[in-house]
Amino acid sequence: MKYVIGVDLGTSATKTVLFDVNGKIIADASCEYDMQQPHNGWAEQNPQDWYEAAIETLKKVVSESGVDAADIVSLGISGQMHGLVMLDEDCNVLRPSILWCDQRTGKECDELTQKLGRETLIKITANPALTGFTASKILWVKNNEPEIFDKCRHILLPKDYLRFRLTDEFATEVSDASGMQLLDVPNRKWSSVMIEACGIKEEYLAKVYESPEITCYINAETASLTGLSTATSVVGGAGDNAAAAVGMGVVEEGKAFTTIGTSGVVFAHTDNPIIDPMGRVHTFCCAVPGAWHVMGVTQGAGLSMQWFKNNFCGEETVLAAESGKDVYYITDTMASEITVGADKLLYLPYLMGERTPHLDPDCRGVFFGLSAMHTKAHFIRSVLEGVTYSLYDCLLVLKEMNISPETMLLCGGGAKSKLWKSMICDTFGLPVTTSMSSEAPALGVAILAAVGAGIYPTVPEACRAMTAVNPDLLVPDNEKTKVYRDYYAVYSSVYKSLKSVYKDLAEI
Ligand code: XUL
Repeated sequence: MKYVIGVDLGTSATKTVLFDVNGKIIADASCEYDMQQPHNGWAEQNPQDWYEAAIETLKKVVSESGVDAADIVSLGISGQMHGLVMLDEDCNVLRPSILWCDQRTGKECDELTQKLGRETLIKITANPALTGFTASKILWVKNNEPEIFDKCRHILLPKDYLRFRLTDEFATEVSDASGMQLLDVPNRKWSSVMIEACGIKEEYLAKVYESPEITCYINAETASLTGLSTATSVVGGAGDNAAAAVGMGVVEEGKAFTTIGTSGVVFAHTDNPIIDPMGRVHTFCCAVPGAWHVMGVTQGAGLSMQWFKNNFCGEETVLAAESGKDVYYITDTMASEITVGADKLLYLPYLMGERTPHLDPDCRGVFFGLSAMHTKAHFIRSVLEGVTYSLYDCLLVLKEMNISPETMLLCGGGAKSKLWKSMICDTFGLPVTTSMSSEAPALGVAILAAVGAGIYPTVPEACRAMTAVNPDLLVPDNEKTKVYRDYYAVYSSVYKSLKSVYKDLAEI
């Protein structure tokens, strides 16, 4: 039997999973790290933490699986998108990575838009200038840390930095590169216009591959630290959402999924690069060669629940540790006892600004409709509902673009919550199911690795062999759909009412 590995470099942890070529999990390991927020709206991580987490988890899966390293034919890496990693000429990291959810680059986005025009930006990169994307982060370093910018010789995304440490090669692939705002997305190659606008050189960027192509092999140092073989190839891999799509079998027109991780995404596969002229959702190359995807993003999805739990659920955390239950199981049980709509308590999940549909780095989280009757359980329910409404915003933009999935697959940590799953089902008004694998991004890049290694001829064929959907389909409850949609209408109007007030607050 041959084996493949998927490494998923997430925002809260790196998860590494060793699969057989039927998609069965043989061994898995994960290692957490922190995110630093040195200023309001900033979000950074230390690339060395990703590397150490990858080495630790690779070593663990190789030794615990008992598999002969020679049979691990290929490895794929999936990663949190958009993060900026800058290296000097000796390949040393120049500063902490500026992450996808960092919102410091509003001014640089205006600079890019003024320089190139919104239409040109959308024509080349399929997206307007966005604070989350890498290009504006490069300009921010140029404007604010010129001594670092001058030393920069290599620009990498998080997963491609990890690839460099594991293999000594500079490589990237189309799905993650699409989120840098440096790629000509319709033509799947670097854009000289964007490179010039950011004041960098093409040689600073890694070579672009399609996601299932072999890019390089494990280096001797990684082999000695982890037990892997230097004959194990490393394929292009994918940005975390494109990887999750492959892991869920969303690789053909008409298929879609929603993920609730730190961020939340509603994702649909398309055979053509369809673009929202208002730029509210992203159009990116997908991990299937020659295809694209459209996705709406909620910045603070799982992040909202994690924030609430970390700050206000001390008792529940202690109870979870004592009872051996997951703390989110306990918070879910509390929220299940509250009725739909949390007795008029609404939550806007804009803890890190928002992308879809507002494209507003200055908006902030809100609890609206507080009453003396509200308890902690109401707050928990309103957080879950507010994130769901924000994901519904994403679905509505896709519908405007004539993308109307008939069912919705759900993945990410949030998919473990029965309550959240039912909220998505009822609010979207769509039947919802989950994948049989709880590790969609890791499975997705392991599938790409299996294709790169020649075990399967195409990504869709590999998906048919290695993925499975849970046969239990949850269907919407029409009465609840009506109530959720009534609350959703008020939820949408709260942002409209606050839009200018957010700007006033940002200017203080
Ligand atoms: C997508 C995005 C997030 C990150 C983190 O555009 O920014 O989904 O990839 O998961």
